[in-house]
Amino acid sequence: MTVGIDKIAFHVPDYFVDMAELAVARGVDPNKFLIGIGQDKMAVIPKTQDIITLGANAAAKILTAADKKEIDMVLVGTETGIDYSKSAAVVIQQLLDISPFVRSYELKHACYGGTAGLQQAKEYVLNHPDRKVLVIATDISKYGLNSGGEPTQGAGAVAMLVTNNPRILELSDDNVFYSENVYDFWRPNGHDYPLVDGHLSNDIYIEGFKRVWHESNQRHQRSEKDYAALTFHLPYTKMGRKALQSIFPEISEAEQNRLMECYEESILYSRQVGNLYTGSLYLGLISLLENSTSLKAGDRIGLFSYGSGAISEFFSGRLVEGFKEQLQPAKDEAALAERQQLNVAEYEAMFAESLPEDDVETEFSDSTPYAIRKIAQGIRYYNQ
Ligand code: COA
Repeated sequence: MTVGIDKIAFHVPDYFVDMAELAVARGVDPNKFLIGIGQDKMAVIPKTQDIITLGANAAAKILTAADKKEIDMVLVGTETGIDYSKSAAVVIQQLLDISPFVRSYELKHACYGGTAGLQQAKEYVLNHPDRKVLVIATDISKYGLNSGGEPTQGAGAVAMLVTNNPRILELSDDNVFYSENVYDFWRPNGHDYPLVDGHLSNDIYIEGFKRVWHESNQRHQRSEKDYAALTFHLPYTKMGRKALQSIFPEISEAEQNRLMECYEESILYSRQVGNLYTGSLYLGLISLLENSTSLKAGDRIGLFSYGSGAISEFFSGRLVEGFKEQLQPAKDEAALAERQQLNVAEYEAMFAESLPEDDVETEFSDSTPYAIRKIAQGIRYYNQ
């Protein structure tokens, strides 16, 4: 029996700011953001949308009425939760009309939460092959206006349906994981924005990748030649590139070129969106699968997941015959192309808006699916 990703989709907000314009407004050479960071556009989200809106929209793209009856677990990975106690998973379960006979909860370990969900889903389906698990990775990445992390912000969600005999990617049982207690990025209770030692996080990420990559090759008697492509957590697209290049001294030029070509295909969507935190690795996977012309059934894809704090995990999966038919490249390209561009002043205004903090009932007029229509007594009510 095989278990893995049967369906996958992403959702991003309808607004973006151009990174060259942002650089000029910040008095920075645009090439720092375009080349040095590797981002062209950054998603911007209005106050009437949140991780639930993003996650519900992503999941709505893949679920059928039959799926909703066969799902046993709804797992939401996020590091931008909206409630200390209540899980976003149960709200999404209700919004999408998924059977209430489900186990629903949130998972947290910085940008790793989606991978934690995916692995739990895999193990559950191995034991319950006729059931399905919905995994959602959803986040809003905000470091603050004029902050060092500003060019690495973004927002969005990826939803994955994990099943027996999946039609996209069969997950292998080859995970190598490594945890170390580091303060490279953290957000203590009460802080609107994370505290971050950006350069330390870059170093820990690269060291983490090299460690689990080498360990995996040793444990499983593999090398880069066993992988059709390597995909990375993408806080910004230069980050995964640096990690990939860190192993180049060990591999031939032909292998370097082959892996770099696939890397370029895996970052096409992230370049236009920015950081999805938990969803970034999986947006990269979608971008690779939808844009690659060389991948074929049976190919092994390596995935590197990183969560500050810190955990590094490397695992892989094999592409299934017909995987392309389960993807929606034209729709995804259109969704990205049809977004509305904000100028820097509009971005700053949207960024600064927030929901009322008192418990006074307030109504909103965002008619997009699953947007917040009302807030009262700390309860968010969504369009359905
Ligand atoms: N043209 C081309 N490249 C340029 C450039 C220009 N005009 N100016 C600078 N660069 C390059 C730098 O050489 C550097 O490249 P390198 O990383 O290959 O050395 C890159 O742009 C970034 O410049 P740097 O001076 O390091 O940027 P910074 O001090 O503003 O910090 C981050 C960048 C990513 C650390 C910062 O945005 C951050 O803290 N982000 C949040 C944390 C994060 O995303 N961590 C990732 C791991 S989870």
